[in-house]
Amino acid sequence: MINKRNPLSPIDSVSPDMVNVGGSPLRYQAALAFWQFVDAAKASGVAINIVSGFRSYSSQASLYEGYVAMYGQERADAISARPGYSEHQTGLAVDIGNPSGACALEECFASTAAGQFAAAHAHEFGFVVRYQAGMSYWTGYTYEPWHLRYVGKDVALDMHNQRISTLEQYYGYPPAPGY
Ligand code: DAL
Ligand code: ZN
Repeated sequence: MINKRNPLSPIDSVSPDMVNVGGSPLRYQAALAFWQFVDAAKASGVAINIVSGFRSYSSQASLYEGYVAMYGQERADAISARPGYSEHQTGLAVDIGNPSGACALEECFASTAAGQFAAAHAHEFGFVVRYQAGMSYWTGYTYEPWHLRYVGKDVALDMHNQRISTLEQYYGYPPAPGY
């Protein structure tokens, strides 16, 4: 599990089993589950697109540096992982959006059709909304209703049934509010 206390090892490692999903790579199992999730959403009349999947160490570094330049380090650390510490580098995390671009990577995404579908159904496909509202003491990040982490159906359903909202708590890891 990746968080501010647990970087990738090696810090720039890349899984070999990435496949392309709508222009963004994801690990094979995550991609299969994601296709099913998007199909189910479509069947319910909800369109979901992929905003960001796998990111390399260097693309995470540029993204993080961009946020630091824009908002300063403290704010950047609340919304973006430093390179080596992002779930996006594992290929198991996916940022979703509305094809219209409405509320892209913004908190208001939670109240859009795609955000509501994800909150209600992501677990059925093996995903968790990784950075829940009010849980930054555990996760290190502010609310990201668009960021899904593939954990597999067993874990996602178990977390849902037990009403556990962070992987840190589920796996018994210490809180990871900072580096
Ligand atoms: N926005 C999430 C925390 C990331 O950068 O991985
Ligand atoms: Zn994300």
